[in-house]
Amino acid sequence: MSSYDTIISGGTVVTAADTFKADIGIRNGRIAAIADKLENGTEVIDATGKLVLPGGIDSHVHIAQPSGEGVVMADDFDSATRSAAFGGNTTVMPFCFQEKGQSLRDALSWYHGLAEGQCHIDVSFHLIVSDPTPQVLGQELPALAEEGYTSFKMFMTYEGLKLTDREILETLTAAKISGAMPMIHAENDDAIEFLREKAELAGETAPKYHASTRPIPVEREATHRAISLAEIVDVPLVIVHVSNREAMEEIQRARGRGLKIYGETCPQYLVLTAEDLEIPQAAKNVCSPPPRDKASQVACWEGIEQGVFDVFSSDHCPFRYEDTAGKMHPKGEKSFRWIPNGIPGVETRLPILFSEGVKKGRISLQDFVALTSTNHAKLYGLYPKKGAIAIGADADLVFWDPDKQMTISQELLHHGADYTPYEGFEVTGWPVLTMVRGKVIVQDGALVTSSEGSHVVRDKPLG
Ligand code: URP
Ligand code: ZN
Ligand code: ZN
Ligand code: ZN
Repeated sequence: MSSYDTIISGGTVVTAADTFKADIGIRNGRIAAIADKLENGTEVIDATGKLVLPGGIDSHVHIAQPSGEGVVMADDFDSATRSAAFGGNTTVMPFCFQEKGQSLRDALSWYHGLAEGQCHIDVSFHLIVSDPTPQVLGQELPALAEEGYTSFKMFMTYEGLKLTDREILETLTAAKISGAMPMIHAENDDAIEFLREKAELAGETAPKYHASTRPIPVEREATHRAISLAEIVDVPLVIVHVSNREAMEEIQRARGRGLKIYGETCPQYLVLTAEDLEIPQAAKNVCSPPPRDKASQVACWEGIEQGVFDVFSSDHCPFRYEDTAGKMHPKGEKSFRWIPNGIPGVETRLPILFSEGVKKGRISLQDFVALTSTNHAKLYGLYPKKGAIAIGADADLVFWDPDKQMTISQELLHHGADYTPYEGFEVTGWPVLTMVRGKVIVQDGALVTSSEGSHVVRDKPLG
């Protein structure tokens, strides 16, 4: 009888703490042994010359989310999780969006219905609270947190989504009572609307005005306010998709005061600038907060290097470009305000950070694993089941070829969008095998097994 279902032999194991040569023995979908040399496996997969990493966890992706009248997201759970698997991810955390008037339970059962049997990797939902009624905050959120839905996002902007400061305070209080981790999209909605109306009156309706009507103070002020509200309630908070130094400094200052404020940044803030909203087909790069300038890119790198950012996520939010239900929404011609916000990126997140970060000497291999996997698991209550190479952890593993040179292009990718914002971007380092709970999902550029993903119930997150 074999000791292991699978042995991964000869690879260089990288965790958020160490790099070491070892074999990994897998039994029943979990890591059962880590040793110099293992024998007696039903199957042996050779990882010589490869790095063996905990699978990527992307804790900020939007899949099949309603995005305004006549707008359809480009990915369903099948295409999004396939794309994620090809990009070296083994878990994604999409949002379950509560429509106004809808119960969180109804929203969840709708999303579970969409996801069930469609996912190639594991999935764990965050909630989006858009209608914080006493019933939602007093009954539903605590009950759902008990059931493992232990994080939710709030918005300070977007019609139909945004919460008032009072509502944010009430919602943060519900998070505190139920031990859930709140996340926030921090932009000042009144300031955006003020600037947007002025721009439109002046006939400034092209995509580049998306950036100029959401300037850095819009994000800095809201970040400061969100942190203050969390401080008042005495609850941790994740500031998502931070794009610039000033917002980052708000996080640093808060931490200096001993507050549990966590930070996230994304590839677009390292690689794109507002100039990418001035090119032909600029709608392709419209996202919020908008990409800024070179100095902001430098700042975000500093934030990554210095640990201001705990997690590096894609904010994958795909729309097709050549589509009137996507970036070419007919009203978008009239004003940038109608261009759906969001860009695809779940498949390119790891290669961009590895190439620009590890290969260029900005971050260590340990930082890379922490920022793309381990810290996501810790922050949102998935650790050590996910995000770890340790005895008992799920065998969610990625073989990484650190020297493989690739040019990112739409043809290479597997998402439902019809473009990538990173077309032509050259990277070194690429995932060559993705395994979820011991099963190989993607190998050498091909989907090997389909629909093996399931929903992961979480523990209480970091407090
Ligand atoms: O433009 C973006 N980021 N769209 C996705 C929704 C969000 O705010 O994260
Ligand atoms: Zn489900
Ligand atoms: Zn957001
Ligand atoms: Zn997002």
